[in-house]
Amino acid sequence: MGKAPANESSVHDVASVDELENDDVSVLDVDGEQIAVFELDGEYFAMSNVCPHQGGPLGQGRVENGCVYCPWHGWQFDIETGEHVQGDDAVPTYETFVTDGRVYVRK
Ligand code: FES
Repeated sequence: MGKAPANESSVHDVASVDELENDDVSVLDVDGEQIAVFELDGEYFAMSNVCPHQGGPLGQGRVENGCVYCPWHGWQFDIETGEHVQGDDAVPTYETFVTDGRVYVRK
């Protein structure tokens, strides 16, 4: 989680810190791509919302032990790295940071 300023065109406002607390997730559309932003113990992680298996919505998946389980067939991805825990597939991840109480993602 970086601390870059939020005034770049590649930076996108996700939500307030209050809206994303308690292991919550927010899904936003960035240039036509769905990105899921997860809060885990006060840190924020962003990854594609689209499962590489068959396109399941990862932001609707169960979160457990730092991983998200795709709601369609249960593939498990590390929220910090985007790596598929049981295989070679990976989900693209993006940098996040907090400025003035708001969470941003850089894409
Ligand atoms: S679409 Fe995600 S596991 Fe099948």
